[in-house]
Amino acid sequence: MGFTIAIDGPAAAGKGTLSKAVAQHYGFGHLDTGLLYRAVGARMLDGMDPIAAAKALLAEDLAREGLRSPDVAQAASKVAIIPEVRAALVDFQRAYARRAGGAVLDGRDIGTVICPDAEAKLFVTAIPEVRARRRYDEMCAAGVQTDYETVLKDTIERDHRDSTRVDAPLIAAGDAVIIDTSQLDIDAAVAAAISAVDAAHARITP
Ligand code: CDP
Repeated sequence: MGFTIAIDGPAAAGKGTLSKAVAQHYGFGHLDTGLLYRAVGARMLDGMDPIAAAKALLAEDLAREGLRSPDVAQAASKVAIIPEVRAALVDFQRAYARRAGGAVLDGRDIGTVICPDAEAKLFVTAIPEVRARRRYDEMCAAGVQTDYETVLKDTIERDHRDSTRVDAPLIAAGDAVIIDTSQLDIDAAVAAAISAVDAAHARITP
């Protein structure tokens, strides 16, 4: 039987690292749904119509270089406003969520729209300054030239666009466990996530 763990939250909250660790802990598959929107955003920057790009998305589009760049992140949040883009990506995400052997999906609307019946839901957040600092450190480590103020501005701008869109806005599901990682290191955040998932599992296991 499938078991779905939905992990949502704002930009650079640490969902990626956390989701990978949680998936590894349970032996589940992991889908970074942000990558789908980034791939469509990258196609739009190439000049393609985003709706056509979303409908024709291929596995190799998810492996292309540069999807983690700030320009692609902003493009992703612009195409993510378009209902037809979101609709084109729903079936793939839902099929992945029900894969045998369990799945962790991270994104913005997993617990609210894609998998409202997920067995466990987490909403991972942190104050914008902490998230921007982490993203800035990540970019520096990857050799990207930037400055902290620019990263903070980008983070806040993207959160605002994601939270105020009409279709599937970024918001915690009513039944999600909130994990604020502002004061947590990665090990503590992973431990909090695992204990929340174990508690959800215990609730549904007779
Ligand atoms: O890694 P980071 O948190 O910075 O971003 P991401 O998860 O890769 O998502 C990039 C953008 O895709 C977000 O800013 C959202 O606009 C969009 N997205 C979405 O709308 N719904 C999802 N389930 C995942 C991402």
